[in-house]
Amino acid sequence: MFGKKEGSSTSNAKLDPNRIPDHIAIIMDGNGRWAQERHLPRVAGHKQGMQTVKNVTIAASELGVKVLSLYAFSTENWKRPSSEVSYLMQLPIKFFSTFVPDLVKHNVRVMVMGDITKLPQGTQKAVNDAIADTADCNEMILNFALNYGSRDEIIRATQQIAKKVAAKEISVDQIDEQLLSQNMMTADLDKLADPDLLIRTSGEERISNFMLWQIAYSELEFTDVYWPDFDRHSLEDAIVKFQGRHRRYGGLKNN
Ligand code: IPE
Ligand code: IPE
Ligand code: MG
Repeated sequence: MFGKKEGSSTSNAKLDPNRIPDHIAIIMDGNGRWAQERHLPRVAGHKQGMQTVKNVTIAASELGVKVLSLYAFSTENWKRPSSEVSYLMQLPIKFFSTFVPDLVKHNVRVMVMGDITKLPQGTQKAVNDAIADTADCNEMILNFALNYGSRDEIIRATQQIAKKVAAKEISVDQIDEQLLSQNMMTADLDKLADPDLLIRTSGEERISNFMLWQIAYSELEFTDVYWPDFDRHSLEDAIVKFQGRHRRYGGLKNN
């Protein structure tokens, strides 16, 4: 079902097509600065960033990535001016209205993490329609973080588990790593829930409340490229760096 597609090409000779990370997560940052450097309004950067999402999604699916998680709107992004927030809320409508046929063509299934019930009705509909329209696709999962915050996710997981304990459905001793994972917003991703590679664009080197539970052993890659300038080659460069790392998970190199 998964795997590198026939005929997909890579421009990077160092990239090993047989060791593509299963789950890549990206903190898509730098849209505003990209626009400001061009004396454009910040929202022009978001518009261009949407095009990057399309290009990178197709590139990832052609490389054989199984899950691509994209941080699109954080629980803290509501603090921005209302005009920018409104623009960001319209973007999923624009994005899915033109891109769903391409997603289906590339066999990409849309999923979402975050509380989308707080988004405007039209945005919720666009997101839910895209989820429904791609429900049978099974090459790659495009997992959007929308109104997502890791602390919010952990609080909700804790509340769900506490309710089960209070209702005597489970005992305190049954709370373990697996149960926590099953109550995170990535539960449906099952064994693919934890990113292998986390990329942040724009030169910032912080996590900004993204997938704190899931990135415990992710490889981190920070690039100075602003998100609207990120492309297939930038993605391949990050994967090559990932392939040069030695993941030990607390053990020793060869065990
Ligand atoms: C990322 O770009 C997009 C969102 C956070 C929604 P920014 O809008 O954060 O761009 P900068 O960091 O201000 O340049
Ligand atoms: C993180 O970027 C959120 C998204 C990419 C959606 P921000 O631009 O909001 O993060 P900070 O404020 O620089 O930490
Ligand atoms: Mg930013």
